[in-house]
Order: sequence, then structure tokens, then C-alpha cells
Amino acid sequence: MQFLSSSVGRKIVMAITGLMLLAFLVIHLFGNSLIYVGWINAYGEKLHSLPPVVWAFRLVMLCVFAVHIYFGVTLALENNAARPAPYAVKKNLRATFSGRTMIWTGLLIVVFLIYHLLHFTMRMTNPDISNSLDELGRLDVFKMVVFSFKNFAIAGVYIAAMMAIALHLSHGVQSFVQTFGLNSDKTIPTVEKAGTGVAIVLFLGYVSIPLVIILGIMNYKG
Ligand code: HEM
Repeated sequence: MQFLSSSVGRKIVMAITGLMLLAFLVIHLFGNSLIYVGWINAYGEKLHSLPPVVWAFRLVMLCVFAVHIYFGVTLALENNAARPAPYAVKKNLRATFSGRTMIWTGLLIVVFLIYHLLHFTMRMTNPDISNSLDELGRLDVFKMVVFSFKNFAIAGVYIAAMMAIALHLSHGVQSFVQTFGLNSDKTIPTVEKAGTGVAIVLFLGYVSIPLVIILGIMNYKG
């Protein structure tokens, strides 16, 4: 418990839960990319065919997400309340835009996630296009995604959310490295580049899906 009341202990929890959320983003992007090879409906069916595994996974991720948010908010509030330190803290990352906006991009991600779950998982926001079955009797995830992103407003919301995620991640990866003391004056530029690199790769991967649909490169031929 003493571990969790120290700021270092809580930063370590933030780093570990952040890494688990990043792992989820990578796996989810891999799953979503199956849309390019026509396997997204099969993938959706496979996921839903294992309810105990899916629910165990959801429960774990929900706890991880809740812990990450709780410690993120409390650390941010404490940082805001703290008076400037009387001594210079060396080897700190620069106060970048992504760093200063962590709490806001985090909040936007929570709002997006609620919308995203209502949209694609519970299929409540657009039931007209979200509950069709394909010719094999599986949920037509392909149709749901394509018809959704043909709508500029929906695609815009996703692209804006991906920007918030990219900003959040670019600082998050750097903080992770800093928390474990892996940065020095020499490595800070590399750490900053690595954070930006991870954020850009995930951003491009996720945004490519609404983009190819808006541009008409990917279409539903049902
Ligand atoms: C272009 C971007 C995205 C697309 C096309 C997409 C697509 C989907 C689809 C189709 C599902 C429903 C899967 C199913 O029930 O069959 C889903 C679920 C989900 N997505 Fe996304 N997603 C995107 C971005 C994101 C992002 C950025 C996050 C995280 C911040 C995210 C988090 C989730 C979560 C937590 C679920 C629920 C998984 C579950 O059922 O337990 N998604 N997504």
C-alpha cells in the first residue's frame, strides 16, 4: 500500500497499465486490419464464439483502464497543486504540448471509447446498418464499418479521436521510459522520437480504415 501512496509507485502503475492498453491497441489494430483481406466477419465470429474468454478479457481490461484513469487523474491533480520545486530536476523530458494535454486527451479517449462501444460493440447508435448478417449468417462487421465511415461525421469523430490517442501515446511512451529511469541526457532525443514514432504508426494504421472508405477505395458490394 505504501508503494501506491508514493508518487514513484503510482507512476510505475501508470506505466504498466499504459503498456497493457498500448498492447490492446496494437492487437485491436491487427484485428481491424483483417478488413483489408476480407476476414473481419470471420474474426468477429471467432471472438464471439468464446464468451467466457471475451468476458474475462473485458473484465481485466476494464480494471486496467480504471486504474490507469484513477492514478492519471490523481497524479495530474497533485502536479497542478504542487508548488514549483525549489531545485531543478535534471534529465526531465521537455514540457511538450502532448505532455501538458495528457489529462485532456485522456478524457477525450474515455468519451470516444463510450461512443465506440455504443457504436460497434452494442450497436445502438446506428442499428439500421449494424445488425445485418452476411451470406454465411455471421454478423456483417464489414458492412457495419463501411456504412459507418461513409458518413463524414462518424469518420470525422474517429479521425479526431485517433489524433487525441496519438498525442496521448507520444507522451505516454516517453513517460514510460522515464519512469523506469531508462533516459539520460544522451537518450532523451531518441526516447522522444520513439514516442512519436509509435504514435504515428498506430495513428496511420487506425486512420487508414475510415480514409480508404471515405475515398471510395474500399466499398461494400452486398
Ligand atoms: C478505425 C478505428 C477502429 C475501428 C474500425 C474499430 C472497430 C471495432 C469493432 C468492429 C469492434 C466490435 C468488435 C465486435 O464486437 O465484433 C470494436 C470493439 C472495440 N474497440 Fe474498436 N475500432 C477502432 C478503434 C478503436 C480504438 C482507438 C480503441 C481504443 C481506444 C478501440 C477499442 C475498442 C474496444 C475496447 C472494443 C470492445 C472489445 C470487446 O468487445 O470487448 N477501438 N472496435
